[in-house]
Amino acid sequence: MYTHYLEHKVFKTASLVADEMHYPAYVIGGFVRDCILNREGKDFDIVVVGDGILYAQNLARALNKTKAITIYKTYGTAQIKYDEIEIEIVGARKESYSPETRNPSVEQGSLEDDQLRRDFTMNAMAIALNKDNFGVLLDPFNGLQDLANKLIRTPLNPDLTFSDDPLRMMRAIRFATQLQFSIHDETFQGIKRNTERINIITSERILTELNKIILSPKPSVGFKLLDEAGLLEIIFPEFCNLKGVEIIEGKGHKDNFYHTLEVLDNICVFTNDLWLRWAAILHDIAKPATKKFEVGEGWTFHGHEFKGAKMVKRIFTRMKLPLNEKMRYVEKMVLLHLRPIALTKENITDSAIRRLIFDAGEELDDLMLLVRADITSKNENKKRRYLENYILVEQKIKEVEEKDHIRNWQPPLSGEEIMKTFNLPPGKEIGIIKTAIREAILDGVIINTFDAAYQLMLLEGEKLGLKPQL
Ligand code: CTP
Repeated sequence: MYTHYLEHKVFKTASLVADEMHYPAYVIGGFVRDCILNREGKDFDIVVVGDGILYAQNLARALNKTKAITIYKTYGTAQIKYDEIEIEIVGARKESYSPETRNPSVEQGSLEDDQLRRDFTMNAMAIALNKDNFGVLLDPFNGLQDLANKLIRTPLNPDLTFSDDPLRMMRAIRFATQLQFSIHDETFQGIKRNTERINIITSERILTELNKIILSPKPSVGFKLLDEAGLLEIIFPEFCNLKGVEIIEGKGHKDNFYHTLEVLDNICVFTNDLWLRWAAILHDIAKPATKKFEVGEGWTFHGHEFKGAKMVKRIFTRMKLPLNEKMRYVEKMVLLHLRPIALTKENITDSAIRRLIFDAGEELDDLMLLVRADITSKNENKKRRYLENYILVEQKIKEVEEKDHIRNWQPPLSGEEIMKTFNLPPGKEIGIIKTAIREAILDGVIINTFDAAYQLMLLEGEKLGLKPQL
Protein backbone atom coordinates (compact mmCIF):
# COMPACT_ATOMS: atom_id res chain seq x y z
CA MET A 1 0.00 0.00 0.00
CA TYR A 2 2.93 2.36 0.51
CA THR A 3 5.57 0.81 -1.78
CA HIS A 4 4.86 3.29 -4.59
CA TYR A 5 6.32 5.98 -2.34
CA LEU A 6 9.63 4.08 -2.51
CA GLU A 7 9.93 4.44 -6.27
CA HIS A 8 11.90 7.66 -5.84
CA LYS A 9 15.39 7.53 -7.29
CA VAL A 10 16.87 8.32 -3.88
CA PHE A 11 15.63 5.03 -2.41
CA LYS A 12 16.91 2.94 -5.31
CA THR A 13 20.33 4.54 -4.98
CA ALA A 14 20.24 4.31 -1.17
CA SER A 15 19.56 0.61 -1.58
CA LEU A 16 22.46 0.02 -3.98
CA VAL A 17 24.93 1.91 -1.79
CA ALA A 18 23.78 0.05 1.33
CA ASP A 19 24.22 -3.32 -0.38
CA GLU A 20 27.68 -2.37 -1.64
CA MET A 21 28.71 -1.42 1.90
CA HIS A 22 26.96 -4.44 3.43
CA TYR A 23 25.00 -2.10 5.72
CA PRO A 24 21.39 -2.75 6.63
CA ALA A 25 19.55 0.49 5.69
CA TYR A 26 16.05 1.74 6.42
CA VAL A 27 13.85 4.72 5.81
CA ILE A 28 12.35 5.61 9.17
CA GLY A 29 10.21 8.11 11.07
CA GLY A 30 7.87 10.72 9.66
CA PHE A 31 8.24 9.59 6.05
CA VAL A 32 7.02 6.09 6.86
CA ARG A 33 4.18 7.43 8.99
CA ASP A 34 3.08 9.80 6.23
CA CYS A 35 3.26 7.09 3.53
CA ILE A 36 0.89 4.94 5.54
CA LEU A 37 -1.40 7.89 6.15
CA ASN A 38 -1.23 8.59 2.43
CA ARG A 39 0.27 12.02 3.03
CA GLU A 40 3.13 13.05 0.80
CA GLY A 41 6.25 12.85 3.02
CA LYS A 42 8.63 15.69 2.22
CA ASP A 43 11.90 14.68 3.87
CA PHE A 44 13.57 11.29 4.10
CA ASP A 45 15.21 9.97 7.25
CA ILE A 46 17.56 7.08 6.58
CA VAL A 47 19.14 5.00 9.30
CA VAL A 48 21.92 2.52 8.61
CA VAL A 49 23.49 -0.04 10.90
CA GLY A 50 27.07 1.09 10.44
CA ASP A 51 28.98 4.33 9.98
CA GLY A 52 26.27 6.84 9.06
CA ILE A 53 28.63 9.56 7.86
CA LEU A 54 30.60 7.23 5.61
CA TYR A 55 27.37 5.93 4.15
CA ALA A 56 26.11 9.49 3.59
CA GLN A 57 29.30 10.38 1.74
CA ASN A 58 28.96 7.37 -0.55
CA LEU A 59 25.27 8.09 -1.13
CA ALA A 60 25.99 11.73 -1.98
CA ARG A 61 28.56 10.56 -4.54
CA ALA A 62 26.13 8.08 -6.08
CA LEU A 63 23.44 10.76 -6.29
CA ASN A 64 25.88 13.26 -7.78
CA LYS A 65 25.33 15.57 -4.84
CA THR A 66 28.75 15.77 -3.23
CA LYS A 67 28.39 19.54 -3.01
CA ALA A 68 25.04 19.28 -1.25
CA ILE A 69 26.13 17.29 1.78
CA THR A 70 26.49 18.70 5.30
CA ILE A 71 28.12 16.61 7.98
CA TYR A 72 27.38 17.07 11.68
CA LYS A 73 30.31 15.24 13.26
CA THR A 74 29.22 15.83 16.86
CA TYR A 75 25.85 14.23 16.24
CA GLY A 76 27.15 11.58 13.84
CA THR A 77 24.56 12.66 11.27
CA ALA A 78 24.62 14.04 7.75
CA GLN A 79 22.21 15.77 5.46
CA ILE A 80 22.03 15.70 1.69
CA LYS A 81 19.92 18.22 -0.19
CA TYR A 82 18.39 16.55 -3.19
CA ASP A 83 16.36 19.14 -5.09
CA GLU A 84 13.59 20.10 -2.67
CA ILE A 85 14.13 17.04 -0.48
CA GLU A 86 16.27 16.89 2.63
CA ILE A 87 17.74 13.46 3.24
CA GLU A 88 18.84 12.98 6.84
CA ILE A 89 21.22 10.10 7.45
CA VAL A 90 22.22 8.61 10.76
CA GLY A 91 23.94 5.48 12.00
CA ALA A 92 21.65 3.45 14.28
CA ARG A 93 22.33 4.44 17.88
CA LYS A 94 21.77 3.29 21.35
CA GLU A 95 21.71 5.90 24.03
CA SER A 96 22.59 5.23 27.60
CA TYR A 97 22.53 7.89 30.25
CA SER A 98 25.09 8.43 32.87
CA PRO A 99 22.94 8.35 36.03
CA GLU A 100 24.89 11.24 37.63
CA THR A 101 24.89 13.79 34.82
CA ARG A 102 22.07 12.43 32.67
CA ASN A 103 24.27 13.26 29.69
CA PRO A 104 23.70 10.77 26.92
CA SER A 105 26.59 8.71 25.72
CA VAL A 106 25.81 7.64 22.20
CA GLU A 107 27.08 4.35 20.88
CA GLN A 108 26.41 2.31 17.81
CA GLY A 109 23.33 0.13 18.13
CA SER A 110 20.92 -2.06 16.21
CA LEU A 111 17.84 -0.89 14.34
CA GLU A 112 15.74 -1.93 17.37
CA ASP A 113 17.88 0.21 19.68
CA ASP A 114 17.36 3.15 17.37
CA GLN A 115 13.61 2.60 17.14
CA LEU A 116 13.34 2.41 20.93
CA ARG A 117 14.74 5.89 21.39
CA ARG A 118 12.28 7.54 19.03
CA ASP A 119 9.33 9.62 20.15
CA PHE A 120 6.15 7.75 19.20
CA THR A 121 5.22 4.31 17.99
CA MET A 122 3.93 5.80 14.72
CA ASN A 123 7.30 7.53 14.21
CA ALA A 124 9.37 4.48 15.05
CA MET A 125 8.37 2.37 12.06
CA ALA A 126 11.02 1.61 9.48
CA ILE A 127 10.95 0.27 5.93
CA ALA A 128 13.90 -1.84 4.83
CA LEU A 129 15.86 -0.63 1.81
CA ASN A 130 18.30 -3.49 1.07
CA LYS A 131 17.65 -5.52 -2.04
CA ASP A 132 16.68 -8.72 -0.25
CA ASN A 133 14.07 -7.08 1.99
CA PHE A 134 13.23 -3.85 0.10
CA GLY A 135 9.85 -2.51 1.20
CA VAL A 136 9.42 -4.68 4.31
CA LEU A 137 7.89 -2.78 7.24
CA LEU A 138 9.59 -3.17 10.63
CA ASP A 139 7.16 -2.15 13.30
CA PRO A 140 8.19 -3.44 16.72
CA PHE A 141 5.78 -1.27 18.75
CA ASN A 142 2.60 -1.73 16.74
CA GLY A 143 2.78 1.73 15.24
CA LEU A 144 0.56 0.56 12.42
CA GLN A 145 -2.16 -0.41 14.87
CA ASP A 146 -1.80 2.90 16.71
CA LEU A 147 -2.07 4.77 13.41
CA ALA A 148 -5.24 2.87 12.59
CA ASN A 149 -6.60 3.70 16.04
CA LYS A 150 -5.43 7.30 15.68
CA LEU A 151 -3.38 7.02 18.84
CA ILE A 152 -0.18 8.74 19.86
CA ARG A 153 1.88 6.63 22.23
CA THR A 154 5.51 6.51 23.29
CA PRO A 155 7.42 3.27 22.57
CA LEU A 156 9.04 3.32 26.00
CA ASN A 157 7.81 4.36 29.41
CA PRO A 158 6.74 7.97 28.68
CA ASP A 159 8.87 9.31 31.54
CA LEU A 160 11.95 8.05 29.70
CA THR A 161 10.88 9.22 26.25
CA PHE A 162 9.96 12.68 27.48
CA SER A 163 12.95 13.15 29.70
CA ASP A 164 15.14 12.13 26.75
CA ASP A 165 13.76 15.13 24.83
CA PRO A 166 11.02 17.14 26.57
CA LEU A 167 10.09 18.85 23.29
CA ARG A 168 8.33 15.59 22.49
CA MET A 169 5.54 16.65 24.87
CA MET A 170 4.82 19.53 22.51
CA ARG A 171 5.22 17.22 19.52
CA ALA A 172 2.61 14.80 20.92
CA ILE A 173 0.10 17.61 21.21
CA ARG A 174 1.09 19.03 17.83
CA PHE A 175 0.55 15.67 16.09
CA ALA A 176 -2.75 15.18 17.93
CA THR A 177 -3.91 18.56 16.60
CA GLN A 178 -2.58 18.17 13.04
CA LEU A 179 -3.76 14.60 12.55
CA GLN A 180 -6.84 14.76 14.78
CA PHE A 181 -5.45 11.85 16.85
CA SER A 182 -5.80 11.14 20.57
CA ILE A 183 -2.92 10.86 22.97
CA HIS A 184 -2.84 7.53 24.78
CA ASP A 185 -3.77 8.01 28.42
CA GLU A 186 -0.47 6.73 29.85
CA THR A 187 1.45 8.96 27.45
CA PHE A 188 -0.67 11.95 28.43
CA GLN A 189 -0.16 11.23 32.13
CA GLY A 190 3.56 11.12 31.33
CA ILE A 191 3.35 14.60 29.82
CA LYS A 192 1.54 15.86 32.92
CA ARG A 193 4.30 14.49 35.14
CA ASN A 194 7.09 16.02 33.07
CA THR A 195 5.78 19.48 32.19
CA GLU A 196 8.51 21.28 34.17
CA ARG A 197 11.14 19.67 31.92
CA ILE A 198 9.95 21.88 29.04
CA ASN A 199 12.01 24.63 30.66
CA ILE A 200 15.22 23.07 29.34
CA ILE A 201 14.01 23.47 25.75
CA THR A 202 14.84 26.64 23.83
CA SER A 203 12.00 29.05 23.08
CA GLU A 204 12.71 28.71 19.35
CA ARG A 205 12.02 24.95 19.33
CA ILE A 206 8.90 25.39 21.45
CA LEU A 207 7.66 28.10 19.10
CA THR A 208 8.14 25.90 16.04
CA GLU A 209 5.76 23.35 17.55
CA LEU A 210 3.31 25.98 18.79
CA ASN A 211 3.16 27.54 15.33
CA LYS A 212 2.44 24.14 13.82
CA ILE A 213 -0.47 23.81 16.26
CA ILE A 214 -1.68 27.27 15.28
CA LEU A 215 -1.46 26.37 11.58
CA SER A 216 -3.59 23.24 12.06
CA PRO A 217 -7.20 23.21 10.85
CA LYS A 218 -8.57 23.45 14.42
CA PRO A 219 -5.91 24.86 16.76
CA SER A 220 -8.23 24.97 19.80
CA VAL A 221 -7.70 21.21 20.14
CA GLY A 222 -3.99 21.77 20.73
CA PHE A 223 -4.44 24.72 23.07
CA LYS A 224 -6.89 22.78 25.21
CA LEU A 225 -4.48 19.84 25.41
CA LEU A 226 -1.57 22.16 26.25
CA ASP A 227 -3.71 23.64 28.99
CA GLU A 228 -4.91 20.32 30.35
CA ALA A 229 -1.36 18.98 30.42
CA GLY A 230 -0.10 22.04 32.31
CA LEU A 231 2.25 23.15 29.53
CA LEU A 232 0.36 26.27 28.49
CA GLU A 233 0.81 27.82 31.92
CA ILE A 234 4.59 27.53 31.46
CA ILE A 235 5.00 28.53 27.83
CA PHE A 236 2.19 31.09 27.48
CA PRO A 237 0.92 32.27 30.89
CA GLU A 238 -0.85 35.34 29.45
CA PHE A 239 -3.10 33.03 27.49
CA CYS A 240 -3.94 30.98 30.59
CA ASN A 241 -4.89 34.18 32.40
CA LEU A 242 -7.84 34.53 30.05
CA LYS A 243 -9.44 31.58 31.78
CA GLY A 244 -12.37 31.78 34.14
CA VAL A 245 -15.63 33.56 34.77
CA GLU A 246 -16.27 35.86 37.69
CA ILE A 247 -19.76 36.55 38.92
CA ILE A 248 -20.80 39.64 40.86
CA GLU A 249 -24.41 40.55 41.64
CA GLY A 250 -25.45 37.60 39.52
CA LYS A 251 -23.66 38.95 36.47
CA GLY A 252 -20.91 37.00 34.77
CA HIS A 253 -18.75 37.70 31.73
CA LYS A 254 -17.66 35.30 29.02
CA ASP A 255 -14.76 32.97 29.62
CA ASN A 256 -12.23 34.72 27.45
CA PHE A 257 -10.04 31.62 27.13
CA TYR A 258 -12.77 29.65 25.36
CA HIS A 259 -13.99 32.73 23.53
CA THR A 260 -10.50 33.34 22.12
CA LEU A 261 -10.21 29.72 21.05
CA GLU A 262 -13.53 29.99 19.27
CA VAL A 263 -12.37 33.15 17.49
CA LEU A 264 -9.16 31.37 16.50
CA ASP A 265 -11.00 28.34 15.10
CA ASN A 266 -13.43 30.66 13.31
CA ILE A 267 -10.69 32.59 11.59
CA CYS A 268 -8.92 29.39 10.53
CA VAL A 269 -11.81 28.62 8.21
CA PHE A 270 -10.99 31.77 6.26
CA THR A 271 -7.22 32.14 6.48
CA ASN A 272 -4.05 30.10 6.62
CA ASP A 273 -2.04 33.16 7.51
CA LEU A 274 -0.06 32.56 10.67
CA TRP A 275 -0.06 36.22 11.67
CA LEU A 276 -3.76 36.74 11.31
CA ARG A 277 -4.16 33.62 13.45
CA TRP A 278 -1.77 35.14 16.01
CA ALA A 279 -3.88 38.32 15.95
CA ALA A 280 -6.92 36.20 16.83
CA ILE A 281 -4.98 34.62 19.70
CA LEU A 282 -3.95 37.98 21.10
CA HIS A 283 -6.96 40.17 20.33
CA ASP A 284 -8.36 40.03 23.89
CA ILE A 285 -5.10 39.30 25.70
CA ALA A 286 -5.44 42.38 27.93
CA LYS A 287 -8.95 41.58 29.09
CA PRO A 288 -7.81 40.19 32.45
CA ALA A 289 -5.68 43.28 33.04
CA THR A 290 -8.50 45.71 32.24
CA LYS A 291 -11.43 43.87 33.79
CA LYS A 292 -13.69 45.86 36.11
CA PHE A 293 -17.11 45.47 37.57
CA GLU A 294 -18.95 48.75 37.37
CA VAL A 295 -22.21 49.20 39.22
CA GLY A 296 -25.05 49.73 36.77
CA GLU A 297 -22.89 48.71 33.83
CA GLY A 298 -21.63 45.24 34.70
CA TRP A 299 -18.31 43.88 33.51
CA THR A 300 -16.14 46.17 31.40
CA PHE A 301 -12.77 45.76 29.72
CA HIS A 302 -12.17 49.38 28.80
CA GLY A 303 -9.03 49.98 26.79
CA HIS A 304 -8.15 46.32 26.42
CA GLU A 305 -7.35 46.93 22.76
CA PHE A 306 -4.73 49.57 23.63
CA LYS A 307 -3.22 47.63 26.48
CA GLY A 308 -3.37 44.44 24.41
CA ALA A 309 -1.51 46.06 21.51
CA LYS A 310 1.16 47.11 24.01
CA MET A 311 1.48 43.56 25.36
CA VAL A 312 2.23 42.15 21.90
CA LYS A 313 5.89 43.17 21.88
CA ARG A 314 6.56 41.70 25.30
CA ILE A 315 4.97 38.40 24.32
CA PHE A 316 6.71 38.33 20.93
CA THR A 317 10.05 39.00 22.57
CA ARG A 318 9.71 36.28 25.17
CA MET A 319 8.39 33.68 22.77
CA LYS A 320 11.03 34.53 20.16
CA LEU A 321 8.46 35.56 17.59
CA PRO A 322 9.89 38.02 15.05
CA LEU A 323 10.10 41.66 16.12
CA ASN A 324 9.44 42.99 12.65
CA GLU A 325 6.55 44.03 10.40
CA LYS A 326 4.72 40.82 11.35
CA MET A 327 4.67 41.98 14.96
CA ARG A 328 3.51 45.45 13.94
CA TYR A 329 0.75 43.83 11.91
CA VAL A 330 -0.45 41.88 14.96
CA GLU A 331 -0.26 45.03 17.12
CA LYS A 332 -2.37 46.88 14.59
CA MET A 333 -4.99 44.14 14.45
CA VAL A 334 -5.26 44.00 18.24
CA LEU A 335 -5.51 47.78 18.44
CA LEU A 336 -8.23 48.08 15.80
CA HIS A 337 -10.32 44.98 16.48
CA LEU A 338 -13.15 46.88 18.19
CA ARG A 339 -13.34 49.78 15.77
CA PRO A 340 -15.66 48.46 13.04
CA ILE A 341 -18.43 47.30 15.38
CA ALA A 342 -17.96 50.29 17.70
CA LEU A 343 -18.90 52.49 14.77
CA THR A 344 -22.40 51.08 14.81
CA LYS A 345 -23.02 52.42 18.32
CA GLU A 346 -23.56 55.84 16.72
CA ASN A 347 -24.78 56.88 13.32
CA ILE A 348 -22.14 55.58 10.96
CA THR A 349 -20.86 58.65 9.21
CA ASP A 350 -18.85 58.51 6.01
CA SER A 351 -16.01 60.24 7.75
CA ALA A 352 -15.82 57.57 10.49
CA ILE A 353 -15.72 54.90 7.79
CA ARG A 354 -13.07 56.85 5.88
CA ARG A 355 -10.94 57.02 9.03
CA LEU A 356 -11.29 53.30 9.57
CA ILE A 357 -10.28 52.58 5.97
CA PHE A 358 -7.36 54.96 6.31
CA ASP A 359 -6.16 53.57 9.65
CA ALA A 360 -6.48 49.92 8.64
CA GLY A 361 -4.91 50.55 5.23
CA GLU A 362 -3.83 47.39 3.48
CA GLU A 363 -4.96 45.33 6.46
CA LEU A 364 -8.63 46.28 6.22
CA ASP A 365 -9.80 42.95 4.78
CA ASP A 366 -7.87 41.02 7.43
CA LEU A 367 -9.31 43.26 10.14
CA MET A 368 -12.83 42.59 8.91
CA LEU A 369 -12.13 38.84 8.98
CA LEU A 370 -11.00 39.15 12.59
CA VAL A 371 -14.07 41.17 13.51
CA ARG A 372 -16.32 38.60 11.84
CA ALA A 373 -14.57 35.75 13.67
CA ASP A 374 -14.96 37.66 16.95
CA ILE A 375 -18.76 37.34 16.89
CA THR A 376 -19.24 34.35 19.17
CA SER A 377 -22.01 35.06 21.65
CA LYS A 378 -24.02 32.12 22.98
CA ASN A 379 -27.01 34.43 23.02
CA GLU A 380 -28.46 34.03 19.53
CA ASN A 381 -30.20 37.42 19.59
CA LYS A 382 -27.01 39.20 20.50
CA LYS A 383 -25.13 37.30 17.83
CA ARG A 384 -27.64 38.22 15.16
CA ARG A 385 -27.51 41.88 16.19
CA TYR A 386 -23.71 41.92 15.96
CA LEU A 387 -23.82 40.19 12.62
CA GLU A 388 -26.29 42.74 11.26
CA ASN A 389 -24.03 45.54 12.45
CA TYR A 390 -21.05 43.85 10.87
CA ILE A 391 -22.84 43.58 7.51
CA LEU A 392 -23.84 47.22 7.77
CA VAL A 393 -20.22 48.31 8.30
CA GLU A 394 -19.10 46.12 5.43
CA GLN A 395 -21.63 47.73 3.11
CA LYS A 396 -20.68 51.22 4.22
CA ILE A 397 -17.01 50.46 3.64
CA LYS A 398 -17.80 49.33 0.12
CA GLU A 399 -19.81 52.45 -0.63
CA VAL A 400 -17.22 54.85 0.75
CA GLU A 401 -14.37 53.02 -0.98
CA GLU A 402 -16.07 53.24 -4.33
CA LYS A 403 -16.59 56.96 -3.85
CA ASP A 404 -13.40 58.06 -2.17
CA HIS A 405 -10.57 55.61 -2.91
CA ILE A 406 -9.13 56.01 0.56
CA ARG A 407 -7.54 52.59 0.90
CA ASN A 408 -3.74 52.67 0.55
CA TRP A 409 -4.21 56.38 0.52
CA GLN A 410 -1.44 58.46 -0.96
CA PRO A 411 -1.67 62.21 -0.39
CA PRO A 412 -2.91 63.82 -3.63
CA LEU A 413 -0.29 66.50 -3.10
CA SER A 414 3.31 65.74 -2.17
CA GLY A 415 5.53 67.55 0.31
CA GLU A 416 7.76 68.60 -2.61
CA GLU A 417 4.81 70.24 -4.32
CA ILE A 418 4.13 72.27 -1.17
CA MET A 419 7.80 73.30 -0.84
CA LYS A 420 7.91 74.30 -4.49
CA THR A 421 4.69 76.30 -4.30
CA PHE A 422 5.82 78.36 -1.33
CA ASN A 423 9.53 78.16 -2.08
CA LEU A 424 10.14 76.62 1.32
CA PRO A 425 12.94 74.45 2.68
CA PRO A 426 11.87 71.27 4.53
CA GLY A 427 10.29 72.28 7.85
CA LYS A 428 7.30 71.94 10.10
CA GLU A 429 5.00 74.01 7.86
CA ILE A 430 5.03 71.21 5.30
CA GLY A 431 3.77 68.72 7.91
CA ILE A 432 1.08 71.12 9.10
CA ILE A 433 -0.27 71.62 5.57
CA LYS A 434 -0.10 67.91 4.74
CA THR A 435 -2.01 67.01 7.92
CA ALA A 436 -4.65 69.65 7.22
CA ILE A 437 -5.17 68.19 3.73
CA ARG A 438 -5.39 64.64 5.04
CA GLU A 439 -7.84 65.56 7.81
CA ALA A 440 -10.02 67.54 5.42
CA ILE A 441 -10.22 64.57 3.05
CA LEU A 442 -11.00 62.11 5.84
CA ASP A 443 -13.66 64.45 7.25
CA GLY A 444 -15.19 64.86 3.82
CA VAL A 445 -14.53 68.62 3.79
CA ILE A 446 -12.75 68.32 0.45
CA ILE A 447 -12.70 65.51 -2.09
CA ASN A 448 -9.68 63.31 -2.63
CA THR A 449 -8.25 65.05 -5.72
CA PHE A 450 -5.19 67.10 -6.60
CA ASP A 451 -7.17 70.24 -7.41
CA ALA A 452 -9.14 70.24 -4.16
CA ALA A 453 -5.97 69.59 -2.19
CA TYR A 454 -4.16 72.39 -4.05
CA GLN A 455 -6.84 74.94 -3.16
CA LEU A 456 -6.73 73.89 0.48
CA MET A 457 -2.93 74.11 0.48
CA LEU A 458 -3.18 77.76 -0.63
CA LEU A 459 -5.66 78.53 2.16
CA GLU A 460 -3.61 76.74 4.80
CA GLY A 461 -0.46 78.47 3.53
CA GLU A 462 -2.15 81.81 3.91
CA LYS A 463 -3.02 80.98 7.53
CA LEU A 464 0.69 80.39 8.11
CA GLY A 465 1.59 83.67 6.41
CA LEU A 466 3.02 81.96 3.33
CA LYS A 467 2.74 83.32 -0.17
CA PRO A 468 2.78 81.16 -3.27
CA GLN A 469 5.73 81.87 -5.61
CA LEU A 470 4.48 82.60 -9.06
N1 CTP B 1 12.22 12.29 16.45
C1 CTP B 1 12.21 11.95 17.78
N2 CTP B 1 12.17 12.93 18.74
C2 CTP B 1 12.14 14.24 18.38
C3 CTP B 1 12.15 14.61 17.03
C4 CTP B 1 12.18 13.61 16.09
O1 CTP B 1 12.22 10.78 18.11
N3 CTP B 1 12.10 15.18 19.34
C5 CTP B 1 12.31 11.22 15.43
C6 CTP B 1 10.97 10.62 15.05
O2 CTP B 1 11.19 9.28 14.70
C7 CTP B 1 10.59 11.45 13.83
C8 CTP B 1 11.94 11.62 13.16
O3 CTP B 1 12.87 11.73 14.23
O4 CTP B 1 9.65 10.82 13.00
C9 CTP B 1 12.02 12.82 12.24
O5 CTP B 1 11.76 13.97 12.93
P1 CTP B 1 11.18 15.30 12.28
O6 CTP B 1 11.65 15.39 10.88
O7 CTP B 1 11.43 16.41 13.22
O8 CTP B 1 9.62 15.10 12.35
P2 CTP B 1 8.64 14.21 11.54
O9 CTP B 1 8.19 13.08 12.41
O10 CTP B 1 9.21 13.85 10.22
O11 CTP B 1 7.36 15.13 11.37
P3 CTP B 1 7.25 16.62 10.82
O12 CTP B 1 7.94 16.67 9.52
O13 CTP B 1 5.78 16.83 10.76
O14 CTP B 1 7.90 17.47 11.88
